[in-house]
Amino acid sequence: MNKLLKKVLVLTLMVAMVLTVAACGGDDGGSDVDAEAPTYKAVTEATFPPFDTVDEDGNIIGFDMDLMNAIAEDQGFKVEYVDMEFDSLIPAVENGDADMITAGMNAMDPARQAKVDFSTTYYDSALVVVVSAENDTITGIDDLTSDMKVTAQIGTTGADKTEEIAGNGQIAEAVILNQYSDCIMQVINGDAAACIVDKPVAEAYIKNQGGKIKIVGDEMGAESYGFAVQKGNTELLDKINAGLQNMIDNGTYDELVEKWFN
Ligand code: ARG
Repeated sequence: MNKLLKKVLVLTLMVAMVLTVAACGGDDGGSDVDAEAPTYKAVTEATFPPFDTVDEDGNIIGFDMDLMNAIAEDQGFKVEYVDMEFDSLIPAVENGDADMITAGMNAMDPARQAKVDFSTTYYDSALVVVVSAENDTITGIDDLTSDMKVTAQIGTTGADKTEEIAGNGQIAEAVILNQYSDCIMQVINGDAAACIVDKPVAEAYIKNQGGKIKIVGDEMGAESYGFAVQKGNTELLDKINAGLQNMIDNGTYDELVEKWFN
């Protein structure tokens, strides 16, 4: 009888150990982050490839998401992404509806710095002018004239530049739209003479649109992107900055640049 009891006890212990191990490793994200880890809500605007876009299944993907996911795994948190209009992003963080902005957002803008706190910068960029590939008269921003419409996305540095040259009478109208995909289509369809957009995004649209558009002239308005959190949220900001530095140090950052930009 004792031998049988011992076998039952050993078997019971083995089953209990197996079940315990399975429960700890059951993260549905495939990551090593503990199931109890905090989940933060990140907001973006997903017509900004390769930083923020959607795949054929409607999933929000991009360099920003891959980098933030790597930071999250390194720092022991999870991230859920929500797509919304670009000019709604800062208000969403300000009023607590979102924890962070992952949207290729220029961190050098004092007006933005007054509303949210930015991480250390993770990508340096600049604005360019995009025109139809068939256009042979516009060679740069100085060739935009008072009979032309120029388009850009609402709330962006591109919109600021476009509204500036509309305000001083250089161009006829600034056509400010919610999505950069629509801005690019305005140029392709001939409804706008040009679009002002971040250079890496222009290059992505040139590729996506099969060369129907081109960049003209020099880079304008250098900017550096940062992830943004609510003013004073130093706990999350410190995690993002620490994770970002770790991703730079361990080569993950360079791997993601290779994946999304080359
Ligand atoms: N870098 C520009 C800015 O900070 C454009 C950002 C647009 N981002 C987006 N996900 N649509 O204003």
